[in-house]
Amino acid sequence: MAKYQFPDGFLWGTATAAHQVEGNNTNSDIWLMEQMSGSMFVEPSGNACEHFERYASDIALLASLGFNSYRFSVEWARIEPEEGSFSDSALEHYSSMVDCCIAQGLKPFITLHHFTSPQWLIQRGGWEGSDTPALFARYAEKVISVLGSRINGVCTINEANIGRVLTSSGMLPSLDIIRQTPGWRAAANALDVTADEFMPFMFAISESGRQTIMAAHRQAVNCIKSIQPALSCGITLAVQDIVAGPGGEEIAAKHRREVNEVYLNEITEDDFVGVQCYSRHRYDSNGPMGPESGVEVTDMGYEFWPEALEQTIRQAYDVAGIPVLVTENGIATTDDRRRIDYVTRALTGVQACLNDGIPVLGYTYWSAMDNFEWMLGYRPKFGIIAIDRKTQGRSVKQSGKWLGDIARTNATTFSV
Ligand code: BGC
Repeated sequence: MAKYQFPDGFLWGTATAAHQVEGNNTNSDIWLMEQMSGSMFVEPSGNACEHFERYASDIALLASLGFNSYRFSVEWARIEPEEGSFSDSALEHYSSMVDCCIAQGLKPFITLHHFTSPQWLIQRGGWEGSDTPALFARYAEKVISVLGSRINGVCTINEANIGRVLTSSGMLPSLDIIRQTPGWRAAANALDVTADEFMPFMFAISESGRQTIMAAHRQAVNCIKSIQPALSCGITLAVQDIVAGPGGEEIAAKHRREVNEVYLNEITEDDFVGVQCYSRHRYDSNGPMGPESGVEVTDMGYEFWPEALEQTIRQAYDVAGIPVLVTENGIATTDDRRRIDYVTRALTGVQACLNDGIPVLGYTYWSAMDNFEWMLGYRPKFGIIAIDRKTQGRSVKQSGKWLGDIARTNATTFSV
């Protein structure tokens, strides 16, 4: 038995993203893609978890479980539905969410961009457009001028490297293939751009896309700091543990460099890096190897490999040298006992990092509730709160009570 006490002020939270939980994010690019026939999305997000309407009771529920923070995203497509025209009611909405978190004792952490973008931005070149960094910074400035004095931290961009993760790991085909799909072409058509010009965030995998994203981050941080110099700012990265199988040393090192390190090298001046880790990815000389035979696989098709979190925290800290906030870690499963096992082992890794003096600021479980898992729709269940899709009823899973208790006491005992 090992007893763990976490540092004072350790953040214990859960996360959501606007598009995945709010419902009816109709001005966004992903919403459009979901509606097209031949879409890559197996089902549309529809009314999602109605978190847009139900946020107050959802936040109260999370607080009652014992958490002390909540990471949620504000939606650019709602806040700036037309280029240059900002919606007061959308800003008021997120302002109320922030107030609600504070009233419930949850420290609000906001994400400015979590995969979805306004459709007009895509018409302006999307995540390869030369004006996108400045447009993002203007939006960031607007949001921070309203919310900035009341929040505890900002993640500018969620998973800056997601496109590279999805294609390099074989989870998505190459962009050339994606661009031929009927759903992609139809969405491009609907916005009056060509299939090549259509560039939503998740697919910005080229070097120019990467540079656009990182420039958007930097320009947003500069704007944020000019308004709220002390507000903690960072970017989040999908940092799966990239490991070499037989003969795969070179290719694994290449992927580690291109998918993780090039980003980590550019954020050494940030206040923190958000580490988001779910599993490990193995490579041999032919490329991605897929799950090892005999290793349990989660409902996402990933290896059940919670130890990846420790490795990725270490890698992020080694390269970027700044404090690490675990902004996402979790598992899709319908067997809630496996969730508890997964998080137990992940937290053991967090403890090992803390023991070695790595500044880990907190642990955020993905996700607060079962939600819209992008292309895979509503099947994968990441939540500690189950949502009845017919009635929108909420029920807390055992794992939610268990993790909330750890959060409340800031300590736990593991039988490892
Ligand atoms: C994303 C979430 C997603 C989660 C689980 C992360 O890549 O930030 O939006 O739902 O992983 O797949």
